[in-house]
Amino acid sequence: MLRKPLGHGREAVAFPFEAESLHLVALDGPHVVGCVLFHPEGPDSGRLFQMAIEPERQGSGLGTRLVRGLEVAVGGMGFREVTLHARDAAVGFYARLGYVSFGAPYVEVGIPHQNMRRTVNR
Ligand SMILES: CC(C)(COP(=O)(O)OP(=O)(O)OC[C@H]1O[C@@H](n2cnc3c(N)ncnc32)[C@H](O)[C@@H]1OP(=O)(O)O)[C@@H](O)C(=O)NCCC(=O)NCCS
Repeated sequence: MLRKPLGHGREAVAFPFEAESLHLVALDGPHVVGCVLFHPEGPDSGRLFQMAIEPERQGSGLGTRLVRGLEVAVGGMGFREVTLHARDAAVGFYARLGYVSFGAPYVEVGIPHQNMRRTVNR
C-alpha cells in the first residue's frame, strides 16, 4: 500500500536489509493490518521505516500503538534515538508522537519527505 499507488512494484523497492530488520505487525486474527520496521544505523540510533496501516483501519490508533511499541522494543535493546523519513502527509502524525523535523526537506520515491527523530528511553 506504500508503493503500489506510486507505480512501484514491491520487489523493486524492498530494502536490502529488510530481512535483518525488526518487524512489528498489528494482527486481526491471522491478517496483518499494520506494520512498522526498524533497522540500526549506528550504535544507539536506528531508522523506523515501512510504517503502514490498512486504509480501512487508519485513524483508530493502530499506528500510534505500533510506533510506541517499537520505541519500547528498541529502547529495551539499548537504542536511544529513532529517526525516520516522513512523507509530507505523515509529518503531522509523527509530530503528535513527539518526533521533530531536522535537515532540509527532500524528494524520495517521487514525493516530498522530511527527516524526523525522537529520543527514546533505554
Ligand atoms: C500515517 C499512518 C501510519 C497513521 O496511522 P493511524 O493508525 O492512521 O494513526 P492513529 O490512529 O494512531 O492517529 C494518531 C493521531 O494522529 C493523527 N493522524 C493520523 N494520521 C495523520 C496524518 N497523516 N497527518 C496528521 N495527523 C494524523 C490522528 O488524527 C490521531 O490524532 P488524535 O490522537 O488527536 O486522534 C497511517 O494513516 C497510514 O498508514 N497512512 C498511509 C501510509 C503512510 O503514509 N505511512 C507513513 C509513511 S512515512
